[in-house]
Amino acid sequence: MAFVEIKNVSYVYPLREGVSLKAIKNLSLQIEAGEFVALTGMNGSGKSTLAKLLNGLFKPSEGEILVDGISTSDDKRVFDIRKKVGMVFQNPDNQTVATIIEDDVAFGPENIGLPREEIVERVDSALEAVGMSEYRKKQSSKLSGGQKQRVAIAGVLAMRPEVLILDEATSMLDPAGREEVMAVVKKLNAQGITVINITHNMEEAALAKRVVALRKGRLAIDGTPSQVFSSGLLSSCGLALPPAAALAKDLKEQGVDICLATTEDSLVEGLCKLLK
Ligand SMILES: Nc1ncnc2c1ncn2[C@@H]1O[C@H](COP(=O)(O)OP(=O)(O)OP(=O)(O)O)[C@@H](O)[C@H]1O
Ligand SMILES: [Mg+2]
Repeated sequence: MAFVEIKNVSYVYPLREGVSLKAIKNLSLQIEAGEFVALTGMNGSGKSTLAKLLNGLFKPSEGEILVDGISTSDDKRVFDIRKKVGMVFQNPDNQTVATIIEDDVAFGPENIGLPREEIVERVDSALEAVGMSEYRKKQSSKLSGGQKQRVAIAGVLAMRPEVLILDEATSMLDPAGREEVMAVVKKLNAQGITVINITHNMEEAALAKRVVALRKGRLAIDGTPSQVFSSGLLSSCGLALPPAAALAKDLKEQGVDICLATTEDSLVEGLCKLLK
């Protein structure tokens, strides 16, 4: 069994008397422990709804989700699911609960009543993991957007999750902030944490090992970045190729013998090979 098993899941938002909206439609997907998945799709395709289903905030209207063998529909295990699946959201300013950074990161562990030494140890290692140790006594309000998101990730890490879901966590950041956050996320994944990065940004999606796209609540694409970018399916999901892949595709169509690139680095590598 995969670490995350999504089995024929549908989710319905009740809107008003007699009116509802099916946001997730008979979705099945498996994610193994340690994977790095980009979850993409147009506005309203169901990404955030799926994220909330994964950490037990919502329960499937039909079907079942198992995380590490535990059903998210099992009321007695809600806390275990929340602990296993941590979420980071879009707006860095909405995620701080304390003014001082170390207090902010300590909030989760304090809330579950861990002993003092354990809290200190968790805060230390979480801040270390996101490269924010030296800022621990500083005020969150003084940080850049990228730093705030790294602190938000530290707050989640302090709960020792096994899956980290980022819901458009870089979309309000400048390019430097995006890069900072993605570097931290890549490092955490290399250390074993399962990552699901929800993004509209195809350059960012290309950093994952697997790209999953939703269209109107259904699974539309699932493959490696190069499979997905060469499939021609992205446009059917209302998504465009990342610039490097688009350029490589244009060059190929003009008769240049180049492999389809997924990132700027792989495009440069391909062009250098040609020039040699
Ligand atoms: N709280 C809610 N009540 C009713 N309908 C909702 C609610 N949240 C989302 N929806 C609807 O469910 C569908 C999926 O929304 P969702 O937010 O999951 O999409 P998304 O892929 O995360 O979009 P975005 O890229 O804009 O964040 C949309 O049609 C949306 O309007
Ligand atoms: Mg969303």
